[in-house]
Amino acid sequence: MSPREIADEADALDVLRWWGSAGVEHLYEDAPRNRFEEATRPPPPRAARPAPAPAAPPVMAPAVAAPDAAARTAAEWAAQAHTLVALREAMLRFDGCALKKTATQLVFADGAPGAAVMIVGEAPGGDEDRIGRPFVGRAGQLLDRMLAAIGLDRTTVYIANVVPWRPPGNRTPTPQETAICVPFIRRQIELCAPRILVTMGNPSTQTLLGVKEGITRIRGGWRAYEIAPGRSVPALPTLHPAYLLRSPAAKRWSWLDLRALRAALDGLV
Ligand code: URA
Repeated sequence: MSPREIADEADALDVLRWWGSAGVEHLYEDAPRNRFEEATRPPPPRAARPAPAPAAPPVMAPAVAAPDAAARTAAEWAAQAHTLVALREAMLRFDGCALKKTATQLVFADGAPGAAVMIVGEAPGGDEDRIGRPFVGRAGQLLDRMLAAIGLDRTTVYIANVVPWRPPGNRTPTPQETAICVPFIRRQIELCAPRILVTMGNPSTQTLLGVKEGITRIRGGWRAYEIAPGRSVPALPTLHPAYLLRSPAAKRWSWLDLRALRAALDGLV
């Protein structure tokens, strides 16, 4: 595609939206640079230089540890945290996940710690990253309406994500990023100690419930989540509200899951 002139403000907004959807969120130079023109400019003449020294081995960014070591550190720090406050502090100090470098802040949780229902999503999006709370964007507003339909709200549920830092451009977290962060969410679930766990969408369901099937196949089927050795709670995989925004016809399945959740809650003594 050849570059084209930006004709007016609507055009410029279009381009910005396109950049946003491609994950471009930060501009680092004050003045614009015409990279198309730069690409066609002949290279400057090269001064005679001595032969370059052999390339040194690449230097690892010190703030991000190797994935296995990072996952081990996450597991150790998570185990050492005996309260949700301590866990949050440990996560604030943790530098093992590269996503922390591009995210604005840690998105730890929202809602009532110790609630009977804990909901776990995938990872924060742009709104969550800006505000610092999970599920506050469009998907979050739909989640609030879904909860309200069965008499719940953020004072009666606890909400977190498998990955607590926003992946750039809202992409799905990589398996490596997930593996590094998973000890934290497991510990968060253990410390919150819900009576029922709800996993929303594929990444959360597959990570926490260890299933390979897609969410549309297994949603609504109760599973057991082992909160701690020998201690399980019922877990309900369901569709992610972001998916429901894209596929409104699937809301009828979601409604069945919500009713199942309500009935299970009513059955708790
Ligand atoms: N989607 C998620 O999975 N989590 C959020 O917090 C927001 C959107």
